Amino acid sequence: MSASSTATAVIRVCRTASRPRPLLLPCLLTLAVIALPAQAQRSAEEVWSDTCTYCHTTGIGPELRGRQLPPAMIQAFARYGVRQMPAFSESEISDAELATLANWISQHPTQANEEKPHAAP
Ligand code: HEC
Repeated sequence: MSASSTATAVIRVCRTASRPRPLLLPCLLTLAVIALPAQAQRSAEEVWSDTCTYCHTTGIGPELRGRQLPPAMIQAFARYGVRQMPAFSESEISDAELATLANWISQHPTQANEEKPHAAP
């Protein structure tokens, strides 16, 4: 169900349930919190550029792409942190987002023009 059709359903239930009127607003707020879907899942690329590139494409952290790192390891490091790297909680990156991100990083080829050793003359 899409967010807008959920909202329409919420309003319909509250209109019917709220006679007298003063209950309409509390009813809407309560049902909206219960029924409206949590923040939509971001794509791997969005999480990567929102959260990881700040360090992992700037040399603060090591390059992660093109190394076939195991997805389980990427997930564990992102969730629990590793030395200088902070941990990211579920409210920052959901489990589903993290699983998608870990697979994406693991399978991602090395960027062209990035991290390439200089060719011998
Ligand atoms: C504030 C900077 C910072 C951010 C943001 C950050 N990292 Fe890191 N990350 C690091 C540093 C620094 C290391 C190296 C830690 C060490 O071994 O000392 C690291 C290491 C890692 C490693 C281990 C790599 C290896 O070769 O051992 C993984 C996997 C990793 N980060 C994943 C992620 C993911 C996924 C994100 C985004 C969700 C992320 N990191 C965001 C700084 C960061």
